[in-house]
Amino acid sequence: MKPRVLSGIQPTGDLHIGNYLGALKNWVAMQHSYECVFCIVDLHAITVYQQPEELRAKILEIAALFLAAGIDPKVSSMVIQSAVPAHAELSWLLTCVTPVGWLYRMTQFKAKSEAQEAIGDGLLQYPVLMAADILLYQANVVPVGEDQAQHLELTRDIAQRFNSLYGDTFVMPATSLPMVGARVMGLDDPTKKMSKSATGSGHALALLDKPSDLKKKIMRATTDSNPHVDFETMGPGVDNLLSIFQAISGWTSDQMKNHFSGMRYGDLKKQVAEAVVSHLEPLQQSYQRIVSEPGYLAGVLAEGAARVRPIADSTVKLVKQRMGVYTE
Ligand code: TRP
Repeated sequence: MKPRVLSGIQPTGDLHIGNYLGALKNWVAMQHSYECVFCIVDLHAITVYQQPEELRAKILEIAALFLAAGIDPKVSSMVIQSAVPAHAELSWLLTCVTPVGWLYRMTQFKAKSEAQEAIGDGLLQYPVLMAADILLYQANVVPVGEDQAQHLELTRDIAQRFNSLYGDTFVMPATSLPMVGARVMGLDDPTKKMSKSATGSGHALALLDKPSDLKKKIMRATTDSNPHVDFETMGPGVDNLLSIFQAISGWTSDQMKNHFSGMRYGDLKKQVAEAVVSHLEPLQQSYQRIVSEPGYLAGVLAEGAARVRPIADSTVKLVKQRMGVYTE
């Protein structure tokens, strides 16, 4: 049996090239060596207020982008979290074995709750729901960004605590961080990771941006005061543009150095823009095809949910039995 991979993404903001090069592209590559479940976590999204119509549209947009990026629904299961009630059910069961002190310690909780006037309980429970996503499918490997590593550790702590209280039940999931170099930074501020929720118009390259907008943003990207590319002394902005180019082209470091050393920043940006635009063109075309085919996306999502529901239900049943709550 192939080891199982589970990952999730929140249906908020605009999916961008950092999500693509850092996550989606790896997921696509993993599909054939692992049994993959890719989850659109709408129940996580509502831990902070979402405009309902926007959320509904975002869920479908992300699903279509997954397919456009190369997720093959015949091989992998694409699942909307709220379509499989077992996520919420297991989350409650795990809440009951999770010390609240563990949750108050999470750095993401601290950061997110600072920005809220009234902190929703969902924000505190967020990592328990994430643990449920993972443990529900007995996932072996969880590919996430560095910012989620702490939540993964918590997931293992919860699993261990459950196993020691009620007997061996959960598989310990391993964290899989993306390779270095796949971390894309903001174009306006290359010291910050490119973010789906940042509002600055020059910050992120969205996967569905028009080619002219992609070009404009890249041409305006922050660089440094050097006159041209110097691999020894370059600042984070130039480094970021080169990393994007390298991740797209697959060039070696030597190829990169030979081609770009001494190039003026204007020319570097033009070449990066061309590479990005032509790389995203087929993805954007395939996105348009997917969303214009009536019923196709809904069918894929129904199929994904139907495929994973039996796995999810059997885990919940086992957990309930272990804990002594009623099962039929
Ligand atoms: N918290 C993750 C993020 O913001 C999203 C997520 C939810 C997730 N459930 C998951 C990631 C399960 C991996 C596995 O990036």
